[in-house]
Amino acid sequence: MDNTNENRGDILIVDDILENLQLLFTMLTEQGYEVRRVLSGKQALNVVRVEPPDLILLDIKMPELDGYQVCKRLKADPITQNIPVIFLSALNDTFDKVKAFEVGGVDYISKPFQLQEVIVRIENQLNLLRMQQKLEKKNAELELLNQELEAFSYTVSHDLRTHLTVVNNIIYLLNQKYSQELSDTVQNYINFLEEESDRLGEIIEDLWRLSESKSKYLDMVLDSFNLSEVVRKIVNRFNIESEVKPKEFIIEPDVYVMGDQGLIKIALENLLDNAHKFTAKREQARVEFGQLQQDDQNVYFVKDNGVGFDSKKAENLFTPFFRLHQEQEFSGTGIGLATVKRIIERHNGKIWYETEINQGTTFYFTFGESDCHTPF
Ligand SMILES: Nc1ncnc2c1ncn2[C@@H]1O[C@H](COP(=O)(O)OP(=O)(O)O)[C@@H](O)[C@H]1O
Ligand SMILES: [Mg+2]
Repeated sequence: MDNTNENRGDILIVDDILENLQLLFTMLTEQGYEVRRVLSGKQALNVVRVEPPDLILLDIKMPELDGYQVCKRLKADPITQNIPVIFLSALNDTFDKVKAFEVGGVDYISKPFQLQEVIVRIENQLNLLRMQQKLEKKNAELELLNQELEAFSYTVSHDLRTHLTVVNNIIYLLNQKYSQELSDTVQNYINFLEEESDRLGEIIEDLWRLSESKSKYLDMVLDSFNLSEVVRKIVNRFNIESEVKPKEFIIEPDVYVMGDQGLIKIALENLLDNAHKFTAKREQARVEFGQLQQDDQNVYFVKDNGVGFDSKKAENLFTPFFRLHQEQEFSGTGIGLATVKRIIERHNGKIWYETEINQGTTFYFTFGESDCHTPF
């Protein structure tokens, strides 16, 4: 790509015919490649393991080990399997293209060699290799960043929690012990503080759950359990909270699943909390939990007849802090569905939804292969 005489790539040529070797060697050296040559497949296999080249030009017709066999061995060895192999074939060789690709070759060049063609084919492969290496490096960096971020949000939410407890204790003290001494204005300020502190607490709690749902600090414990019971307990809590309008909860009984009960409970809490929240303004609110069969798989769902949302605007629905409703209308932090998705994915499951504005929303989810239908 650049026209300086820097090393453009390290190439190994394998051919039992000295003339061919010499021809390619001169051609490629002049182009700025670093070129090594060997006369047999056996030699090639030795050289390659000691110092892997960026690319191999491999003759097919050779005594002892032919090109196909050499390639097969290269692809079977983890050290050498990612080195691209371009086959060299003569016109009168019986060259089997299908076999060449089957054994792991990426391209071939026919004799007599045309300089331009040889260069283009080599550069194609080297570019691919460079891109792949860049991607791998980026992926590794991303993975590291992700881990750091995970540890960071865990620590931060944990620390914030501790500090917030102190703030809450002081508010409590002020309310309990000093309320007589406080003017109305100060009391109002304290009430305001209390509300804000509750809100902060909610965000911290959600963040903490989000990081907990992925963190390495928590090992999953797989168990078969009755998810309907978990749902029933969560829903009972909603009913105890002073409910102005009656709400209908339909729970399919004895739906057993396999997974980490603690995590799955968090997921269901979030889904049911949403269903509960977004049906709050319905005259006849209904929330349903159940399971169905789809493509031989158990699919679970939480369905509501609430306000729904515009699915066209919901690409980022499962991203932390993403919300489609205004805080004034429906309070929340936007962390719930991100947490749910992580939990489902940690179980090798999937989550998706159907929704219609003013009709309602259904979230569907699966639990991957570890899922089981009946209790042990
Ligand atoms: N059952 C539902 N009905 C309507 N909208 C929903 C429902 N569940 C989630 N949403 C939309 O997705 C957003 C993100 O949900 P979530 O992550 O749980 O955040 P939060 O509940 O804190 O707002 C919500 O703010 C809402 O706009
Ligand atoms: Mg929510």
